[in-house]
Amino acid sequence: MCTRLVQIVPEPSDTDGHDRSGSDMGFFDWAAPLFGRYGDRWSAEDAEIIAGWLRPHLTGSGAILDLGGGTGALASHLADVTGRPVTVLDPTPKMLAYLPDRPDVTSTLGRAESMPFADDSFDAVVVSDAFHHFRDQDGAVREMQRVVRCGGGVLVLELDPRPPVMRAVVLVERLLGEPGSFFAPEDLCAFMALRGIDGTCEGQRGVSYRFLGTVR
Ligand SMILES: C[S@@+](CC[C@H](N)C(=O)[O-])C[C@H]1O[C@@H](n2cnc3c(N)ncnc32)[C@H](O)[C@@H]1O
Repeated sequence: MCTRLVQIVPEPSDTDGHDRSGSDMGFFDWAAPLFGRYGDRWSAEDAEIIAGWLRPHLTGSGAILDLGGGTGALASHLADVTGRPVTVLDPTPKMLAYLPDRPDVTSTLGRAESMPFADDSFDAVVVSDAFHHFRDQDGAVREMQRVVRCGGGVLVLELDPRPPVMRAVVLVERLLGEPGSFFAPEDLCAFMALRGIDGTCEGQRGVSYRFLGTVR
């Protein structure tokens, strides 16, 4: 087991200027049918690539956590290609309602900032297009570090907020009542490292990037 960090990190609002105001899941309540119907942007090929990144970490129980996993679209593909059980944790019941009915993809209602799992429950956590929605990103990373075993994998798929197209996306989300808090890749790497998860950030398609790290 890793030594859990008791390091004091500065309050996020003092260091990165991210706005964390706003708090409910209203946006995802009304958006859930859209995600359910059109949200399958994950293909089996995507899942193969992601599984390749995670596989070196899947040496314990093999259990994978899809944090903020929504409708379970990625979780299903991941369970298919890895043959490992995937747990989807999400606070929006209307998103979880779209989860497929299969024994190897299970749902848990909850928030990233306070997960109802024991220490070291998972070999890896995946957070796709969800990290910027977490209201307390510091608390969420601490929880990720707790529920993923020492040496386990942390994969965060995010969007770089700096290109002009993303500025428009951020604005639209805000207008719709969802104040996302995005990180530039190098800032996410630094944020994670300060909290006990070392890794690298690498650009993917378009404005997407991945953080891939290991719990220390
Ligand atoms: C844009 S959706 C992405 C869903 C899925 N990961 C995907 O890639 O299709 C963001 C998800 O994050 C969830 N979410 C928002 N705040 C959260 C929190 N504090 N903890 C866990 N999940 C959260 C929402 O309910 C929603 O299902």
